[in-house]
Amino acid sequence: MTVTILGISGSPHRHGNTETLLDSFLEGARSAGASTEKVVLRDLDYAPCRGCNSCHKNGECVVKDDAIALFEKILSSDCLAVASPIYTMGITAELKGFIDRQQYLWARKFILKTLYFSDDHIKRHKGIFISTAGLGWENVFDGAFPVITALFNTTGFEYYDNMIANDMDRYNGIKNHPTALKEAFEKGQKVVRMIEKLKRG
Ligand SMILES: Cc1cc2nc3c(=O)[nH]c(=O)nc-3n(C[C@H](O)[C@H](O)[C@H](O)COP(=O)(O)O)c2cc1C
Repeated sequence: MTVTILGISGSPHRHGNTETLLDSFLEGARSAGASTEKVVLRDLDYAPCRGCNSCHKNGECVVKDDAIALFEKILSSDCLAVASPIYTMGITAELKGFIDRQQYLWARKFILKTLYFSDDHIKRHKGIFISTAGLGWENVFDGAFPVITALFNTTGFEYYDNMIANDMDRYNGIKNHPTALKEAFEKGQKVVRMIEKLKRG
């Protein structure tokens, strides 16, 4: 059975450092036989969460826009590669605004208890965070990890790996980084093989 990989690019900058790193990951996954799709948040039409808590009652979001279809797509993918550059020590507004919209799934899981992911399901669904940052600080990605963890937890993915590259200002872009693009390609191949193995049981 073909492994399905969904890449979500949260950078407002098309074909910049982060989307290029995501592309390498998806290319590696495709070379290992996966079916891949890339969704660019900038191109979608979605609003931030209104905090109306209506979903706490029925598990449905009252805002009917592109976010809902994308969450459906996430739930039917084997691997979710979510990408964002570091903006002001966290993820971009595009990605945070989208992740907040998962509140209806959170309500299904924790309030209504109509959504449940078994340990086996979580083990077979891999989440990967892809990011770049301008600064060379070792801790520059720390503000992003908890939000990404929350996304993977709510949507039933194991937080499997990071593909992060800092110091973009010094390298003058991801294309000049000595290892990141190759590493992302290899990580794409590796996760496909891993999921195939798990699917075979
Ligand atoms: C609005 C904005 C805020 C940024 N904030 C940070 C930051 O806090 N720390 C950092 O290391 N780089 C920061 N950067 C630099 C980006 O993370 C870096 O250039 C990244 O590689 C851009 O990726 P992209 O080409 O996919 O947009 C910021 C860039 C922008 C445009």
